[in-house]
Amino acid sequence: MSDIEVAVGPLAELDDPGCREFAIGEGDWPFRGFVVRQGDAVYAYQNVCAHVGHPLNWSAHKFLTKDKSAIICASHGATYDIKKGNCIAGPARGRSLQAVAVAVRDGVVYVTGPEGGQ
Ligand code: FES
Repeated sequence: MSDIEVAVGPLAELDDPGCREFAIGEGDWPFRGFVVRQGDAVYAYQNVCAHVGHPLNWSAHKFLTKDKSAIICASHGATYDIKKGNCIAGPARGRSLQAVAVAVRDGVVYVTGPEGGQ
């Protein structure tokens, strides 16, 4: 299966810090992920918690702790470092989110993932 690059949207439309979900591929099982903006930097991860594999969010585009200093899973509260994706507290300690290739070109955020979904 080949990877494709898709546009998530303009960097300027992301809150700082803030997140945006994306899906790559068609059908019932697209590859789902999210980007996190922190200043001019953008990080991207697959939307699968390293604890027991739930999607991290219950509300659209909501992946951060209240103080927006870390990524948090809504299921059981595992928290992850925004820059590295490693679990820093909670039940996924010692594990990490799956990073997704991300780039910003001409002010637009792009991610790369499997063309046919997961
Ligand atoms: S599935 Fe994320 S903390 Fe349990």
